[in-house]
Amino acid sequence: MTLSELKNQAFIRSLPKAELHLHIEGTLEPEMVFDLAQKHGIQLPYVDVDALRRAYSFSNLQSFLDIYYQGVQVLRDSDDFFQLTHAYLQRAHTDGVVHVEMFFDPQSHMERGVSLSIVFDGIIRALESAKHKYGMTHRLIPCFLRHLSAEAAMQTLEALLPYRDHICAVGLDSSENGHPPSKFSRVFDRARSENFLTVAHAGEEGPPFYIREALDYLKVSRIDHGVGCEVDDTLCERLVQERMPLTVCPVSNVKLAVFKSMEEHNLKRLLRRGLCVTVNSDDPAYFGAYIADNYLAVQQALELSREDMISLASNSIEASFLGEADKFYWLGKLTACAYE
Ligand code: ADE
Ligand code: ZN
Repeated sequence: MTLSELKNQAFIRSLPKAELHLHIEGTLEPEMVFDLAQKHGIQLPYVDVDALRRAYSFSNLQSFLDIYYQGVQVLRDSDDFFQLTHAYLQRAHTDGVVHVEMFFDPQSHMERGVSLSIVFDGIIRALESAKHKYGMTHRLIPCFLRHLSAEAAMQTLEALLPYRDHICAVGLDSSENGHPPSKFSRVFDRARSENFLTVAHAGEEGPPFYIREALDYLKVSRIDHGVGCEVDDTLCERLVQERMPLTVCPVSNVKLAVFKSMEEHNLKRLLRRGLCVTVNSDDPAYFGAYIADNYLAVQQALELSREDMISLASNSIEASFLGEADKFYWLGKLTACAYE
């Protein structure tokens, strides 16, 4: 890294920021996959860590999801979930994350016989420890797997209700094309009637009308990804008008071939159009980039200014589910960063 890159990295890390699009299962580093496989006596189809890391080369979303769902098989007991979450939070803290809204996929664990109590216990212990150690705040967002049925999602929602005090919102992830948000209207109606907020992946690989459906049918508070909105001017205007945040994951988009290169990413154009764009890491272990790496990658490739970096961090606080007092506090800190 050059001296100026190092300085930019230090500046980016110094900005208080919220990570709003992070799948905890996507933070499973190859070393941890091997450690946990050994602990549980699981035979992996890779000779070593390097071979597994070499397999992290993707042509689209589905090619990634196939490996990602294979990876989660090593998560079996609550200490595994603790170790996974703890490692991510430590790393996020060094990147200046002061607040995280974390996704997890309950169905990918329940279908393997791993109970929700095991998953919640491990994740929450780590989140509480980060709150105690770093003052880092959090929200938890279980996601429904959209390649599975709406009935399965409804059963999952019902299974989540005993844990409602730990849940802020529900989300929708996995294979986008062929699984429009409208498929889950009833489940999301029910989730809102239980006082959960809603978010959904839309416009990652899918068409702009999936974003409209997420707004109109699922009544989401944020669109996860949403980069596909750009080809639809009326939709973009609506997103600006409603100040609807997009949780953009730039390195993920390049690794999954949504954009050919970071130079071609539309984040800067969306920001200039007045959209509430945020920067996030999605599945950092699989894409080789945690949140500060994502900020740095867009800054370099799209020639963003320090003011742009501050805007992106401010958008992340504004778009979070923090209360008004916390938002006011962090936005004040970010304003001070502009004058340093
Ligand atoms: N699950 C984990 N990462 C995802 C992504 N980028 N899109 C959809 N589902 C996911
Ligand atoms: Zn995602």
